[in-house]
Amino acid sequence: MSKRRELDFSFWDERWRQNYSEREQRIRANPLLDYWDKRARDFSLMRKSNDYDFGRSVYAALQDVLGPDSTMLDIGAGPGSFTIPFAQKIKSVTAIEPSQGMSAILKENAKEAGVENYTVIEELLEDLPQEPSSDFQFDLVAVSLVLWMFQDVWPRIEQMERYAKGHCVIVAGIPDWKHPRDALKSDVEEFQSLCNMLISQGRFPDVRVIDYVCERAVADEIECRKIMYEQYEADLTPEAEEKIRREVEARAKDGMCLITSRSAVIRWNPGEMVLKG
Ligand SMILES: C[S@@+](CC[C@H](N)C(=O)[O-])C[C@H]1O[C@@H](n2cnc3c(N)ncnc32)[C@H](O)[C@@H]1O
Repeated sequence: MSKRRELDFSFWDERWRQNYSEREQRIRANPLLDYWDKRARDFSLMRKSNDYDFGRSVYAALQDVLGPDSTMLDIGAGPGSFTIPFAQKIKSVTAIEPSQGMSAILKENAKEAGVENYTVIEELLEDLPQEPSSDFQFDLVAVSLVLWMFQDVWPRIEQMERYAKGHCVIVAGIPDWKHPRDALKSDVEEFQSLCNMLISQGRFPDVRVIDYVCERAVADEIECRKIMYEQYEADLTPEAEEKIRREVEARAKDGMCLITSRSAVIRWNPGEMVLKG
């Protein structure tokens, strides 16, 4: 009985909602756009490190479904983590980025990289037209580290599919993979729930795992930790600041922090389903 239940969409949808509520109870507040404005600079430094290692690794996992004439929709594009390395390889990228801080940095980064074949739409995903016109269709519709902010996630996945004339892709973190016991249950289950929701709704997701490296200066890492602490934990006190500084410095080498990460690149073709709806 319980095995059959685990194949149900409702099981995974409920699990997603539960994880969302549990995280909401644990943290001080969910992030709003002013948080992403504040994070724009440090996020950009992280994503640009090793010549956009993250974005290039995701591109490598998708290059068999892309070509020089392909178009892409990059939802919650941030500082251009995908927009810039993908635009260097395909015809054009449309970036959806509602934070003005992030979108300004994305434009700076594109200029620095000599990338011009992109446009930015400063809107929230949920405010985009639900029934898109024929010119709002893309060979690849991508989202990375955005869906966790939605308690009701399936409508957003269906929305992505309506913009796709080729594949959709979700990039999800696989947290603390070296110490799985320490990883937060809700973070581990984010990837699991998304894959299982797709399967239980008749999609055939193909999952590739990528490893990548982010490097940034100690001062930038401390700045990022301070912003996150204020958002998710409490007001920053001198003691908390000192604790952050000690932790970051203990992990640093030659003034730099090296962070190795692993993500799942979950892609599927919405035109190929075993059962609909
Ligand atoms: C964690 S960052 C991810 C950036 C990039 N996709 C990456 O993986 O490097 C999340 C981004 O989503 C954007 N965002 C937040 N809420 C959003 C929404 N409702 N619709 C679209 N983007 C959103 C934020 O402004 C931020 O730039």
